[in-house]
Amino acid sequence: MSTDDTRRWLDPDVPAGERVAALLAAMTLEEKVGQLVQMANPDVERHADLLTAGAVGSAIVASGAYAGNVRDAGTQASHANALQRAALASRLGIPLLVARDVVHGHRTVFPIPLGQAASFDPDLVRACARVTAREARADGVRWTFAPMVDVALDPRWGRVAEGYGQDAWLTSLLGAAAVEGFQGGPDGAGLAEEESLAACAKHYVGYGMAQGGRDYAEVDLGPVTLQNRHLRPFRAAVDAGVATVMSAFHTVDRVPMTAHEPLLRDVLRGDLGFAGPVVSDWDAVGEIVRHGLAMDLTGAATLALRAGVDVDMVTGAYATHAADLVRSGAVDEALLDDAVRRVLALKVRLGLFERPFADEGRAARVHLAPEHRALARRAAASAVVLLRNDGVLPLRPVGRVHVTGPFATATEELLGTWTLDGRGEDVVTIADALRERLAADGVEVTVDDGRFPDASHLAAREADLVIACVGEHPLRTGEANSVASLELPPGQAEVLEGLARVSRTLVVVVVTGRPLALERLAHLGSALVLAFHPGTEGGHGIVDVLTGDVPPSGRLPASMPWVTGQVPMPHDHLPSGRPLDPAGPLGRYRDHSDAPQYPFGFGLGYSAVEYGPVRLSAERLGAGEVVRASVILRNAGEHPAVETAQLYVQAHLASISRPVSELVGVQKVALAPGEEREVTFDVDHALLAHRDARGRLRHEGGPFTVRIAPFAGVGGGAGPSAQLDVDPLPDAADAADDGDDQT
Ligand code: NOJ
Repeated sequence: MSTDDTRRWLDPDVPAGERVAALLAAMTLEEKVGQLVQMANPDVERHADLLTAGAVGSAIVASGAYAGNVRDAGTQASHANALQRAALASRLGIPLLVARDVVHGHRTVFPIPLGQAASFDPDLVRACARVTAREARADGVRWTFAPMVDVALDPRWGRVAEGYGQDAWLTSLLGAAAVEGFQGGPDGAGLAEEESLAACAKHYVGYGMAQGGRDYAEVDLGPVTLQNRHLRPFRAAVDAGVATVMSAFHTVDRVPMTAHEPLLRDVLRGDLGFAGPVVSDWDAVGEIVRHGLAMDLTGAATLALRAGVDVDMVTGAYATHAADLVRSGAVDEALLDDAVRRVLALKVRLGLFERPFADEGRAARVHLAPEHRALARRAAASAVVLLRNDGVLPLRPVGRVHVTGPFATATEELLGTWTLDGRGEDVVTIADALRERLAADGVEVTVDDGRFPDASHLAAREADLVIACVGEHPLRTGEANSVASLELPPGQAEVLEGLARVSRTLVVVVVTGRPLALERLAHLGSALVLAFHPGTEGGHGIVDVLTGDVPPSGRLPASMPWVTGQVPMPHDHLPSGRPLDPAGPLGRYRDHSDAPQYPFGFGLGYSAVEYGPVRLSAERLGAGEVVRASVILRNAGEHPAVETAQLYVQAHLASISRPVSELVGVQKVALAPGEEREVTFDVDHALLAHRDARGRLRHEGGPFTVRIAPFAGVGGGAGPSAQLDVDPLPDAADAADDGDDQT
């Protein structure tokens, strides 16, 4: 076929499906394979031949296999455009798709996703992703590998920083919001906009269960837990229109996810209805050999293609072997065509054929724009969780404040993991923000970076108030950075104990990429403040909360244990045949508490907020009905409050054992001092449903407890509750016949 007179794929007026079909019909086998090849850091000089041969479908701009903590020179629109010119010079003129891990900000960096999760606010997460996309697009990026929607129960796992915490419902809510932000709206409708990126829900699936919190370790997972916890955020991302999904590194029940045909083809494509491309994780096709399922890259490519991994990120196994596999009949060409079709369809949806180039002047206009910084400041304040306060906060004017510790003057360390394009020089430090804010009140602020603890102690003695800023360096968070101990890094608790002895008043700020075990700080100082790595405007955001300019509103997206040995500590654990009696003599541990130090959802404000009793509009929920659950909240203090009312349910009877506490709703309410407001949630069958092992929704009846609470309790305990009787919906009848599903 002569392609010159049939280049229908270039015509935007031709329907997308026809454009893709026309292109596919014109492609050689090698050109098809090229679309499935993702190359790391192509260089226009060295790789022009490959690009113009149509041998590279997409490029990842990264600093390496563990790019999360390695900052690189970044990418620029001019570079992306140069690559694009080479790709467009290929026989069929198929544009290149440039990808980069743009995770929680680009030049303007927002709090790490775990910190954004502390906001419990999908609008904020959506807005941060939108700005991230706008800034990255200006550098020529069209595809990001975010959001990570792995439900992470074990905070030893470094990648807990990259996701939205330990709760499947919250991760689903916020992951879907991030997808919408990156892609410019729901259903991918805004994908072709000037400010959008294709998103990628990762790491499919169950990666958050890596054994012992050790990155890349195996995962064992039963089908019901898979459905109700780990698949749930992927369903939500697919429903939000996520353009791509990444298959993970690990094995699930001894099969590498990159070769997992049942979970990729049957579940992701079949049950979840995902129609976009699946990309492997970095070299994960090659790693199938190390997992022991293939002897070489030919075998690995065969398994991955058959399993439904469309794009081979950097291994090169498809580039070298896929065409031969099709020619030999080991891989069906129809299957390869499907994969190519999905990649081409994405390129069409992104408008890449119409607008392949980036505007080279745009980065200077949009990066670090004042409104981006303003959002970053608001987001940073939302990532602050007030854990303990004897009344010293909000700060009141005193003669001298001394701020000390490694995070007092930290710049790029405030950015957190996965900030390839953030720059330390853009960061507002905690010390600078304090000086700027307190100078107006005539407070003298002295600063040291804690390098010499003895000198810090001396300065502390002379101050009216000491603010010690400690915590984790981002280098020990993120990919490949798990820890065996959740305590503060070595020496910090000791320095804090010394400071507590010499300070008149001590406030401790812990900056972190994961929930920590802060037993040693339980009674130390007058206030304990947790700030997840907060980003470019971190200093401002933290100080806004310390001063009360912004009411503390962050809530823990994961429980914080007393000691490492307690993890994992899901609030949504099962009831157990021998339930824990918190008042009884028998606990779970002989040597420690059964409860976390701080539970999921916990966070204080500067005013106590009182919860009235939970009222239900009816005692029974019939088919098709809605019962309204409401509670009166009252700000009983003297400061403005932003309360996060959390709706938890417990099903007492079902065909499987259901958790003691399932989060199913959240509302954030601003309350002036003394103000009372009613908060109402609509409870219907959809809210109370669960899934069986095959992923079918079950709406079983029976008694439920409905709680509206400020945080999750132990054993389902905290906050006022009411009982609701629920009638089953018809699907529940077959659930009883399906006992064999659970095995
Ligand atoms: C490996 C990581 O697991 C993944 O999250 C990331 O997107 C890729 N590398 C690409 O950098």
